[in-house]
This record gives sequence, C-alpha cells and structure tokens, in this order.
Amino acid sequence: MNFTVYQAPQGLLPDLTRELGTVREITAVREPLVVAAGPPYPAAFAANIWLEPAFSPMASISDAAKTLKAVQRNWACAPVGHFRRAALVVAKLPKVSARPLVFGEPLPSSPLGAFTLWDEGTLLYSPKTSEPVPGGDYRFDEDREGPPNRAYLKLWEALTRLGTMPGAGDVCLDLGGSPGGWTWVLAGLGARVTCVDKAPLDPRVAAMPGVSSLAGSAFAVDVADHPGLSWLFWDVICYPSRLVTFLTRLVARPDCPRLVCTVKFQGETDFSAIAELAAIPGGRLMHLSHNKHELTFVRLRPGEDHGLDRFAAALGPSAPQDSPAP
Ligand SMILES: C[S@@+](CC[C@H](N)C(=O)[O-])C[C@H]1O[C@@H](n2cnc3c(N)ncnc32)[C@H](O)[C@@H]1O
Repeated sequence: MNFTVYQAPQGLLPDLTRELGTVREITAVREPLVVAAGPPYPAAFAANIWLEPAFSPMASISDAAKTLKAVQRNWACAPVGHFRRAALVVAKLPKVSARPLVFGEPLPSSPLGAFTLWDEGTLLYSPKTSEPVPGGDYRFDEDREGPPNRAYLKLWEALTRLGTMPGAGDVCLDLGGSPGGWTWVLAGLGARVTCVDKAPLDPRVAAMPGVSSLAGSAFAVDVADHPGLSWLFWDVICYPSRLVTFLTRLVARPDCPRLVCTVKFQGETDFSAIAELAAIPGGRLMHLSHNKHELTFVRLRPGEDHGLDRFAAALGPSAPQDSPAP
C-alpha cells in the first residue's frame, strides 16, 4: 500500500488538507495527522512528513514499544487521541533529546521516527520522517539580550533548515527589516546588510558593523542598485500577490540573489499565490515552526544544494496514486 502521513502545524490542519487535497487523495484525517495516497508530496503546510509509514496491530503498550524498539532507537509521538496510552508507550522507549537547537550547530543526524496510536489496537509508525527534530518543531536556545524582537528566530530556523547561510563577503538586502531582528542575525554572521523599511532600525542594530539602512518602500528597490547582492530577505507586511509580482521579476534575472521571503496571509490563506510561488523553479515553500499564519519561500542559486533536499529521494512527483486502507 502506497501512502504518506503528513503532520499539520498547530491550527493549520484545514490549510494542510486543502493543499494536499489538490494533489493527493486524502483517506483519513485525525488531527494533527493527514493520511494520503501516493508518495510523499512536499506540502508547504506540513510540519513533518512521515516518509515510510505502516500500520501494525498492537496487542498492548509493551507490544507497541517492542515493535518500535525493534526498528530503531529514536521515536517521537504525535498523538491523535489515546493520550494516556500513547504516553505509556513513550515511557517505555529510550529518551529522545529535548535539548533546544543552538544556532550555527548542525541539525541532529540520528534517524528519528514518528508514531501514533491510531486506535486502541493499531500502531501507525514511520522510521523515516522529513524533519530531523520531533514533530518538525524547531526550538532554539534563545538570545534574550541581543536582538530587538523575536523575529530573529524565524530567520535562525530558515537558515538552519536551508543548511547554508550568509557570511563574511556576502551582500544582503533586508526588505521590511525594521526593527532589525533579521539584520541583527545577518550582521552577526559577518555579512554586509542594507535594511529597507519605512520604519527605522533599532539603534543598537543600526550601529552593528556592516549595517546600513534606507528609508523607503521595498517595492521601489531595484536590485541593480546593489552590486554583488548575494542574498535578499523579505519580511514586508503585504498581500502575497504583491510578493509574487516582485519575485517573478526578480527570478527572471540571471544574477538573482538567494531568497528568503515571508509570505504573510491576511485573513484567508491565498492558495493562488501559493501555487504561483510553488511554480517558481528552484524555489521551496515551507511552514516554519516560528511562522504564524505565514509561509516562507526560499530559493538558492541554480545548482546550489540546500538542506531541504535531505529527503529529496523520498519526496517524489505529485501524481495521485492508489489509496491506502488505514
Ligand atoms: C514583521 S515586520 C519585520 C520584522 C523584521 N524582519 C525584524 O526582524 O525585525 C514587517 C515590516 O514591514 C515593514 N513594511 C511594511 N510595508 C513596507 C513597504 N512597502 N516597504 C518596506 N517595509 C515595509 C513594516 O514597517 C515593518 O517594519
């Protein structure tokens, strides 16, 4: 049986089912999980994708733990109910590190599986998942002193998941960058950053080496005015369609920089903008643990490998296939 399990971020199950429903046959939904026919689809609204799922009968709590331990050491539980029984299975498994990530350190590399008690007598589990952290929840050891706000966590997560980041010698534009959480991250990495925003940078960020700022609209920016531009960051509050127009023009340039852009939804999720962004060659849309009702669009340069392809072999084409029978 060829099927895949997708875990929705908190509160975004409707978005995930709508996104998947256009490319896959959904056969079961038990919050936060969606079971769909066919090979894995890189759904933007999935926090984690279970790449090799299987249903297995379980006679008892101990039996479930035994089944999992026979496969591998590390498991994260995503309960869909039966919370007490699920907790009892977790208690019988080896502990998985709960240590927050440290920005700049590589992601955990040990295989991490996911499981749930689908019902009283059925275990659903996958030894392989798309994300190397439990539930795709990227938590960091936070910096409560340096940055002017918590927006820096979004960029920490995006760069960590990309597996590559700017450094000394890079020229960055940070559009909609005030008060400067992202600029703080980029300058801290040693890059040269120009922030463009109608609002000012926090004076402490503005004083960091390599930081400059321009007061004005991101939509008026011409990248040709920024020679050597290697990365463009976008956290502007605007309708997604305006970002699509900006990016469509930008990606047509042979010198298009690497891109990290927040797609912000005001009210309804704009699925037509999502489709247009998903169609940009070389791009990837993802929901970060630190995104709210937002997605993040990322794109490196042609030929550059990024960390999001860690599981590319398992993330196959989007053609619908046979349905599973959960
Ligand atoms: C979510 S905040 C950005 C936070 C920032 N990334 C940080 O790390 O501190 C959104 C920013 O978009 C800016 N903004 C809204 N419309 C803009 C426009 N047309 N051009 C430039 N900035 C704009 C706002 O002034 C605001 O500072």
